[in-house]
Amino acid sequence: MATRAVEGAADPRLSGRAVKRIAFDEETIAARVRELGGEITAAYPDGKLLVLGLLKGSFIFLSDLVRQISRPLQVDFLVAASYGDAMVSSGTVRLVYDPETELEGKHILLVEDIVDSGRTLNRLMAILEERKPRSLEICALLHKRIADGLKHETKFTGFDAPNEFLVGYGLDHAENFRHLPYIASLQ
Ligand code: IMP
Ligand code: MG
Repeated sequence: MATRAVEGAADPRLSGRAVKRIAFDEETIAARVRELGGEITAAYPDGKLLVLGLLKGSFIFLSDLVRQISRPLQVDFLVAASYGDAMVSSGTVRLVYDPETELEGKHILLVEDIVDSGRTLNRLMAILEERKPRSLEICALLHKRIADGLKHETKFTGFDAPNEFLVGYGLDHAENFRHLPYIASLQ
């Protein structure tokens, strides 16, 4: 894992706030996303595939990922709110937008930015299972490997992540930093 330190002042996207270090740089992410696309392509030889992005955190990952999957697919989104502006989990998960696409009989691949406590996934997987998909799997960009009681392990994982608060490449702190092209840990 790259551990380059970054100067807050050196990156105008950070508005002067320093990040502790870059955990995953742009090239490392791009290479892994390409590999994941290949893994997903190989894992679904037939059937309808619906890639379901969990907003907002997955928006950049999802858009890069689907362009690396070489088979027909559909894209829809779910919006769940769990964290508010805090850096620790509030423990509650609210579904704010429910996908309108039919899920029954399709392979559903839920795309998540990061698995932390696992509460969000436990709640969402239970909701999605009721819609009778042909299969239901999770692709997470990052996995902190600290969740206990995770009911469905991720089938596809980008990187094991350090147990730090990470921002960038879709991940936010209080809605900031989502646009960073790299993933950094916050001071
Ligand atoms: P969980 O329910 O605790 O697994 O949390 C999952 C959600 O919390 C993710 O989809 C993120 O939106 C958010 N989250 C968890 N850890 C981080 C982090 O390190 N940085 C930014 N967001 C995080
Ligand atoms: Mg968030």
